[in-house]
Amino acid sequence: MLAAVTAAIILIPGAARAQGGPDAATLKHGEELVTKNCGSCHAVGRTGNSPRPDAPAFRVLGQRYPIDSLEESLGEGLMSGHPDMPEFSFESDDVGAIIDYLKSIQAKR
Ligand code: HEC
Repeated sequence: MLAAVTAAIILIPGAARAQGGPDAATLKHGEELVTKNCGSCHAVGRTGNSPRPDAPAFRVLGQRYPIDSLEESLGEGLMSGHPDMPEFSFESDDVGAIIDYLKSIQAKR
């Protein structure tokens, strides 16, 4: 009985966060953008290997640096250390959608 009450209390903040986060349409838009622009080299989903083995899977990027730090590079079309990388530059709405999507797929450690 006590355990059930405790579990309910622990679950509430998680539910509130999910509602306050990016909406499903934004995440879908971000997913489409990275699938189209990045998916030929990077694994863009929660599972799977990158088509190019030297390109990191997007779900582990957050383990190297904060996802937010990519925002500027995506908007300006710069990406350091990116061989063969096609030139790309996204509108700020698109950058936001990509950032939200990338955050949503980060593997939990
Ligand atoms: C033509 C292949 C290719 C495409 C397309 C591509 N990438 Fe990459 N990307 C790579 C490779 C290869 C690396 C590994 C580079 C390295 O570690 O030197 C990489 C590395 C990265 C990194 C890690 C950089 C770092 O410093 O750790 C990020 C972030 C990244 N790519 C984002 C993107 C995004 C966002 C897109 C789509 C808009 C994209 N990439 C499209 C090949 C690609």
